[in-house]
Amino acid sequence: MNEEKLKNSLSKAVEPVLKKDYVTLGFLKNISLNGKKLTVTLGISDLSSEIVSAAKDHVANILKKDFPELHEVNVKFVIGITQQKSSGKKHTLSGVKNTIAIASGKGGVGKSTVAVNLAIALAKAGAKTGLIDADIYGPSIPIMFGVNQKPGLVQEGDKNKLLPVEKFGVKLMSIGFLLEQETAVVWRGPMASSALKQFMEDVVWGELDFLLFDMPPGTGDIQLTLSQTIPLTGAIIVTTPQDISLADARKGLIMFDRVKVPTMGIIENMSYYVNADGKKDYIFGQGGGMKMSSEYGVKLLGEIPLTGIIRKCGDEGIPVTENMPDDYVSQIFRNIAADTIKEVNLKNVSSKSESDVIIEI
Ligand SMILES: Nc1ncnc2c1ncn2[C@@H]1O[C@H](COP(=O)(O)OP(=O)(O)O)[C@@H](O)[C@H]1O
Ligand SMILES: [Mg+2]
Repeated sequence: MNEEKLKNSLSKAVEPVLKKDYVTLGFLKNISLNGKKLTVTLGISDLSSEIVSAAKDHVANILKKDFPELHEVNVKFVIGITQQKSSGKKHTLSGVKNTIAIASGKGGVGKSTVAVNLAIALAKAGAKTGLIDADIYGPSIPIMFGVNQKPGLVQEGDKNKLLPVEKFGVKLMSIGFLLEQETAVVWRGPMASSALKQFMEDVVWGELDFLLFDMPPGTGDIQLTLSQTIPLTGAIIVTTPQDISLADARKGLIMFDRVKVPTMGIIENMSYYVNADGKKDYIFGQGGGMKMSSEYGVKLLGEIPLTGIIRKCGDEGIPVTENMPDDYVSQIFRNIAADTIKEVNLKNVSSKSESDVIIEI
């Protein structure tokens, strides 16, 4: 056996979610041969136990058949994340596989809360994750992550660059790390846009599977700057169940659609309140996110309850996914992270690439 033969063999094994072989997907992560004992580590889009156990059998059977001389075949899985299809045009975030805007039409619906907890949940799932606070006028990341240190500086070529602050497994950058929060609000539009550009160009992000953007509310300059500077993988729209919030979320979705950024999913936040008797109380109305999801053919990635611990953990600088990983709310965020990975991978391997379209226009 040699690596070449092993690769040939593994190109007959099909990844269960993406229905393509592991080698083509770039999901062959590691091979170790110890005498007659082979261990291969592969990436997979879904780490849930039934999927993994069937995939293990499938791969092991192929390997055992092709290499009968082996005494033992071990197949291990880690999360596999594909790269957004290249538009051919080089852009500034070349080490970043996928970029996702967490957006909504309206303020106060929980974009930052979702962005922060999704970033932590993605990192915990094994994805290298970064988070840019694109809400230049009202940054939330410093408080929600409990960061009050300044980013480091490094020399790259003849340029000084910023090092992201790393916390809870996530690389972070926020205007709040550089300035007092109060000064940010007096900025004018072009200044905010150029600050966001700097966060992409002058920060050493390194290799990332996901870079999330916690967006300001609305459909203004920052949204435009972002979609024009990099080919975004997609947007995740956060809404609350009220009609007014849903109407604004629709505006957000339509705006991204217009600049050819696909919406990867909708998250309904503050969906319900769990009463003392355990019953769900849909205080703001029920089914709005679901309805919007079917209307636009976009996946509903999750429904997050209104609960004091989400607010408290955010205010105290240790988000719920980090502070209380066993709580059911953290499980909801883990499910959203798992679905986000699947949606992104499915989109990246599908034949049509929307980011190609944006370049041709
Ligand atoms: N599901 C939730 N349950 C309880 N409080 C929440 C929830 N989602 C957000 N919040 C709180 O609502 C406020 C606004 O949320 P935030 O994430 O800052 O919204 P946005 O970024 O859309 O303006 C924050 O104080 C946050 O802690
Ligand atoms: Mg916010």
